[in-house]
Amino acid sequence: MAEKPAHEEINQKEMLLKAYSVQWRTTFDAINDAVCLLDMNGRILRCNKAMESLLQKSSKEIIGGISWELMHGTDKPIKGCPIVRMKKTLCRESLVLKVDDKWLNVTVDPVIDETGNLTSAVHIISDITRRKQAEKALKRLNEELLKEHNQRKILSKSLIDLLEKDRRKIAMELHDHIGQILTSIKLNLEMIHEKLKPGGTELGAQIAAVQERTIQAIKDIKNVSRGLRPAMIESLGVVSSLRELFNEIQQQTDIEIRFFSIGIPKRFEEAKELAVYRIAQEALTNIVRHARAKNVFVNLVKKDKKLLLSVEDNGVGFDQDKVMKPSKRKGSLGLLIMKERAVQLDGEFTIESQPGKGTHLLVEIPI
Ligand SMILES: Nc1ncnc2c1ncn2[C@@H]1O[C@H](COP(=O)(O)OP(=O)(O)OP(=O)(O)O)[C@@H](O)[C@H]1O
Ligand SMILES: [Mg+2]
Repeated sequence: MAEKPAHEEINQKEMLLKAYSVQWRTTFDAINDAVCLLDMNGRILRCNKAMESLLQKSSKEIIGGISWELMHGTDKPIKGCPIVRMKKTLCRESLVLKVDDKWLNVTVDPVIDETGNLTSAVHIISDITRRKQAEKALKRLNEELLKEHNQRKILSKSLIDLLEKDRRKIAMELHDHIGQILTSIKLNLEMIHEKLKPGGTELGAQIAAVQERTIQAIKDIKNVSRGLRPAMIESLGVVSSLRELFNEIQQQTDIEIRFFSIGIPKRFEEAKELAVYRIAQEALTNIVRHARAKNVFVNLVKKDKKLLLSVEDNGVGFDQDKVMKPSKRKGSLGLLIMKERAVQLDGEFTIESQPGKGTHLLVEIPI
């Protein structure tokens, strides 16, 4: 094949070079961020269209100008100038700054030739105003959420405190007032019974029956007020108090409760003791009322600075989607209060249940 004449080859190379240059220019101008090439004194050698619109100047006015003079109107680099830092580190340096009402992210990358010398730098300025505004809005939203969360926590703490205060008050009224009255009725009945002629009259039998019922009422009141005010926690600790509660439930129902506990100190923070007791108490009340369970497993253990309470029953279970929906709650508060008690103490409450598959409740409270 005949060789091309030298002038034709040069023409082809020039055309190729022109094509590359057009491609390069078009790509450079298509970039959304403002990009320019700088020499080592901060002088702008080239810039793209985005740079022109950022500085609101034509490329003719920009090229040859000094970066900080054009950007900030200063005759020296600004504090923390990434160009100055890049000259020392020979690595990408960046800076976020506010110019007028715009937030800019400025980066400078070194251009190093094949002999390892720093020849120029690529300066990219991205307008991050929208991102900054979004960050600010998100931060404000987070602060508001946190504020609301804290307010809700305070509110639920006062509600739970109020509930406990009311329970204590009712327990005292029942135990100290009505209990006293019943005890004195019981004593009076005993006296009357003794004064009756021996031999057993019909009236004597009636009085004996009333005496029996009075004794039962005194017992019931004791039980109710113990449930309302578990004062025994103070003397026995949570584990023994719960054991007593479970024994009582076992005697009154045909539910078998297996209780396992390890590593729980006899006494710990009062609020946490009460929360654990109350949550277990409500879980068992729910089992008695709703579960129709035969077996219940309760575990209370301390693991990795956490108190773990797990209550599992083999009862009828329930549909969580239906029961947990606020619109379907119909005044049910037990589960809600259990959760609040745990959350109040920076803990967690989870419940898993399915119709026919029993219910498993798990509470974690830091200790
Ligand atoms: N262990 C369980 N087994 C079966 N169903 C349960 C169990 N625990 C809760 N439930 C279901 O969840 C519902 C909500 O329980 P929650 O304790 O919140 O309310 P409640 O017991 O109905 O009323 P209260 O406000 O007096 O506690 C119950 O009505 C019951 O249908
Ligand atoms: Mg309940």
